[in-house]
Amino acid sequence: MSKSKKQSYESNQDVQRWLRDQAEEHESAEVMFDPSFLASRRDSEWILSSLAVFYQQELISDVISEVSSGKEATVYCCIAHPSTGAEYLAAKVYRPRMFRSLKNDAVYRTGRTQRDVDGRVARDRRQGRSAKKPSRQARAARVSSWIAFEFETQQLLHQSGANVPRPVAHIGNAVLMEYIGDGPDPACLLHEADLTPPEAQSLFDCLIRNIELFLACDRIHGDLSAYNILYRPAEVTVIDFAQAVDPRANPEVFPLLERDVARICRYFARYGVAADPGALAADIWTRYMMDEL
Ligand SMILES: Nc1ncnc2c1ncn2[C@@H]1O[C@H](COP(=O)(O)OP(=O)(O)OP(=O)(O)O)[C@@H](O)[C@H]1O
Ligand SMILES: [Mg+2]
Repeated sequence: MSKSKKQSYESNQDVQRWLRDQAEEHESAEVMFDPSFLASRRDSEWILSSLAVFYQQELISDVISEVSSGKEATVYCCIAHPSTGAEYLAAKVYRPRMFRSLKNDAVYRTGRTQRDVDGRVARDRRQGRSAKKPSRQARAARVSSWIAFEFETQQLLHQSGANVPRPVAHIGNAVLMEYIGDGPDPACLLHEADLTPPEAQSLFDCLIRNIELFLACDRIHGDLSAYNILYRPAEVTVIDFAQAVDPRANPEVFPLLERDVARICRYFARYGVAADPGALAADIWTRYMMDEL
């Protein structure tokens, strides 16, 4: 994202209002929580208002670096509070959904449960309609629903033994999870890795097993590629479940599974891993439908 866009996003009136609301809500935490990393940052108020609650709840004790700043979220490396049993934690802080374009939103939304601003499942017709109307409240409901679903998905998949970062907490527009890296250095993306053919075959097999495991949990990643997989020697970790869907809520999502499988096959083909993506996706889907995964 260009610098000028970032500046205009932060001077946006809605963003300013959001910041004020957050600051009022967590005033006491802000006084105590003062990471040195934030001192010179123009977005420090925003980050602070998003992460202060994790500090208050004794999940993190400092924020030390920015790992990545993308279109929809920024990921920070935090020092974990000793009570978490971890040394570092990753905090993914979303720009609220109401402030960003809803790219290809409809297909994903139909595969999801809509939630109200407090995370309750929206059941009645008025709430269902409000999710389609871009009113202020509906947009806020979508922010809450979207991030809660990502967190829940990661919990579900982690519990089932999938290779995903252990989710730790979710508050407002921020998610705290296991930090994948070597000390404070983040793991590289699979896209940047240089693999030997035998390692490639074993990581490919692992990722296909993960796709099956996701589906056994009624989830399709929906944006799986070498850009959403972290790599450490002989190990892959799938991240970014922001676009995950539940096929039970929308059976028309097979093309998303096909695309996930095809991207993995295409990536590993350069290392000589042979696979027929169409047949593989169809086989996984058939076994899912037959309850045989
Ligand atoms: N648990 C983690 N441990 C270490 N690094 C992480 C972790 N989660 C995310 N990252 C880093 O942050 C980047 C962005 O994370 P993610 O893909 O979840 O967000 P995003 O909204 O898709 O951002 P982008 O628009 O940059 O893709 C990742 O590419 C990775 O480099
Ligand atoms: Mg991503």
